[in-house]
Amino acid sequence: MEKPFTIIAIGDIVGKPGRNIVREGLASLRERYGADFVVANGENAAGGNAITPTAVEEFLALGIDVVTTGNHVWDNKEIEKIIDTEPRLLRPANYPEGVAGRGHGIYESRAGGKRVCVVNMMGRVHMAPLECPFRTFDRIFLDVAGKADIIIVDFHAEATSEKRAFGWYLDGRASAVFGTHTHVQTADEEILPGGTGYITDIGMSGSFNSVIGMDTEKSIQRFLRLTKIKYDVAAGNEKLNGIVFRFSGEGKTVAIERILLEK
Ligand SMILES: [Fe+2]
Ligand SMILES: [Fe+2]
Repeated sequence: MEKPFTIIAIGDIVGKPGRNIVREGLASLRERYGADFVVANGENAAGGNAITPTAVEEFLALGIDVVTTGNHVWDNKEIEKIIDTEPRLLRPANYPEGVAGRGHGIYESRAGGKRVCVVNMMGRVHMAPLECPFRTFDRIFLDVAGKADIIIVDFHAEATSEKRAFGWYLDGRASAVFGTHTHVQTADEEILPGGTGYITDIGMSGSFNSVIGMDTEKSIQRFLRLTKIKYDVAAGNEKLNGIVFRFSGEGKTVAIERILLEK
């Protein structure tokens, strides 16, 4: 039997601790799982709440094939310099017409000989009111069907209900749907009846002595005082969260496994 095409997706990389563990751990992960393609969510890579061209370059140099983002994509204006010119950097596809950047792309894998479509999408529950993610996917699917062997979707969203509904809506069309944004890995990885691999959230990569990657004391004070207190990225106890999908020749998920890499 032919080796299943294998993709690793890495959960939101938060600040320097996140960049460190990805830099130190990616090569061994790639080898352990025999990964043909790697995507990572980088929206928190710079200072915990933004992404910069330098961070994108660093990830691409490590061999990450595509960098996805989310609600923090615009928080450092520097990113606007490359968002239109770097095809391996995605922002959520359901921003309105005319917004800079792109929400999906089709990429030739360096190994395994597949055309991989990566879609980045954002939820709307407790988040900015973007275009409908469900209907936006319908449009993208019509456009890419037949042009890609595998379609994977990073659904950057808050509500577990919206994420699970989105997974079921895409079942049989997307090869895999994985959630990001909450920074907490969920234990509901499964293969839906139509062959779509699904997990509500793949978690984060960064300091786990933290509140979703940020300094615990600052975070507690925000809740106690209900005033704006500047967050700091936490330090120590670095871990990497992610997911591994293995796909059949027909682009269906045949295996799904959560990743937790500790130092
Ligand atoms: Fe995030
Ligand atoms: Fe986010």
